[in-house]
Amino acid sequence: MEYVFGDLWRVQVALALSLAYALLCYLMYRRALLAGLSPQADRHIGTDAKPVWIIYASQTGQAEAIARLAGRALGASGVPVNLRRIDQPWLNEVAGARHVLFVVSTCGEGSPPDHALGFFRTRLAAGACAALRGLSYGVLALGDRSYPHFCAFGLQLDQWLQASGAIAAFPRIDVDRLDAPSLTRWKHALQGLGAQTAVMTPALDTGFSDWRFVGRRCLNIGSPGAPLFKVELQPLAGLLPAWQAGDLVDLIPPGAEGRARTYSIASLPEEGRLELIVRTMIREDGTPGLASGWLNQSAWANDRASLKIRRNPGFNLACGLDTPLILIGAGSGIAGLRAHLQARAQAVAASGKNTPERCCWLVFGERSGRHDRPCHVEIEAWRRSRILTKLDLTFSRDDPITSYVQHALLKNARELQVWVEGGAHILICGSAQGMAQGVDQAMRSVLGGEQVDRLLEAGRIHRDVF
Ligand SMILES: Cc1cc2nc3c(=O)[nH]c(=O)nc-3n(C[C@H](O)[C@H](O)[C@H](O)COP(=O)(O)OP(=O)(O)OC[C@H]3O[C@@H](n4cnc5c(N)ncnc54)[C@H](O)[C@@H]3O)c2cc1C
Ligand SMILES: Cc1cc2nc3c(=O)[nH]c(=O)nc-3n(C[C@H](O)[C@H](O)[C@H](O)COP(=O)(O)O)c2cc1C
Repeated sequence: MEYVFGDLWRVQVALALSLAYALLCYLMYRRALLAGLSPQADRHIGTDAKPVWIIYASQTGQAEAIARLAGRALGASGVPVNLRRIDQPWLNEVAGARHVLFVVSTCGEGSPPDHALGFFRTRLAAGACAALRGLSYGVLALGDRSYPHFCAFGLQLDQWLQASGAIAAFPRIDVDRLDAPSLTRWKHALQGLGAQTAVMTPALDTGFSDWRFVGRRCLNIGSPGAPLFKVELQPLAGLLPAWQAGDLVDLIPPGAEGRARTYSIASLPEEGRLELIVRTMIREDGTPGLASGWLNQSAWANDRASLKIRRNPGFNLACGLDTPLILIGAGSGIAGLRAHLQARAQAVAASGKNTPERCCWLVFGERSGRHDRPCHVEIEAWRRSRILTKLDLTFSRDDPITSYVQHALLKNARELQVWVEGGAHILICGSAQGMAQGVDQAMRSVLGGEQVDRLLEAGRIHRDVF
């Protein structure tokens, strides 16, 4: 009897709890309905509300990643979002937008990213744009204060928007090497526009994991230049992740206090290892640079570093196997070119045949032909198997008249024209100052400035320069 009585009591308590829970649910639902936050209300915002447009311009993918995160944060609060690369059509579609947000980086010597050059030339340089009058906008400008023209493109864009009569929703935010305080201001600005910034994780600074140093091999013994090493790294745990030719790593060596150094990946995952080709940076006081010194001198097998693989859209290739490639580089720039040549060799092998259209031309420069021939065994093998159909090597210290890759292009002017007419894509990897500038001038003198601009705008010139 006592047992039955106990059960009855339990049933009553359970009933009371269920009723209380149902009442609570009803009250919460009613409150949400009144506040316009019910699922129906969400759908309503999603379809009828004015969209926020997010426009990005990015050379090495950081601005693009930040733009995508912002899109995710705004989308999570039910705001419709349109995300576009700056060179895609948007200007005639943004009338009536709630806000237009720009996330843009600066590269070269204060220039826009390559894919934004056409927009810069045809829109910004053309002056104020009536389509933007009255629009609410915001600019996040990525840059690096160690360059003389800090955030120059973001600044020019901001001035153009102001001159066009657009209205800043918040002051332009200039970001120095992804500094945390500026990115926090961006987050607050997005919150002010209603974004749910909690969904912005994984944030940009995550994605790093522990990797171990496997080994290194000097590629230029006896060279008059600073040492160049091929370095191998492996993830500390788990399998090798995926990447594609053209991608980069951000690496934080031990003791670097969070500031990552970027390196072009020289290998492909199919080879079962991640390899970099690194020049030891010698500082003014004669000491080696932090990251290059660690990789090339002080790291021992199994020492750990934090590493993240980063897509590099400007230097990835989407063109097919039948597109001719002109690969131009110098020094450690062989890293990014080697990955592309390896990808071409793998794709040709997988297709079972090589054809004359699948031609590759490597123009590579170093100092001494005797000591500076990185990857020469592979380059020779690719030449024999006709993966490489044309090879021009220049050695600046050997020739009586100093000769660089740009001189090789000038010497081969007719071939350059023919290859470009044949639809070639041009890949440029290595030093920005000396090499890439010289190559740009040589291409302009051979092909004409307008054609080079057109190639850049069409995404047929891919640059990984540093
Ligand atoms: C997209 C990209 C791809 C790259 N790919 C490669 C590659 O494949 N191979 C390769 O060897 N290198 C590559 N680099 C260069 C690489 O990232 C490093 O810059 C280089 O290895 C030097 O780093 P470090 O840590 O050894 O030198 P650091 O210790 O950073 O010193 C380098 C020099 O910069 C100066 N310096 C350091 N910090 C600052 C600062 N805050 N402001 C101003 N000056 C400063 C120092 O005085 C020194 O002269 C690439 C760079 C980029 C951006
Ligand atoms: C070759 C090179 C040139 C650069 N030139 C500039 C510059 O002139 N001004 C500037 O503020 N930042 C400059 N930067 C820094 C980039 O703007 C910064 O790294 C930015 O975060 C890159 O964003 P992205 O990956 O979206 O292109 C340069 C970076 C590189 C690699």
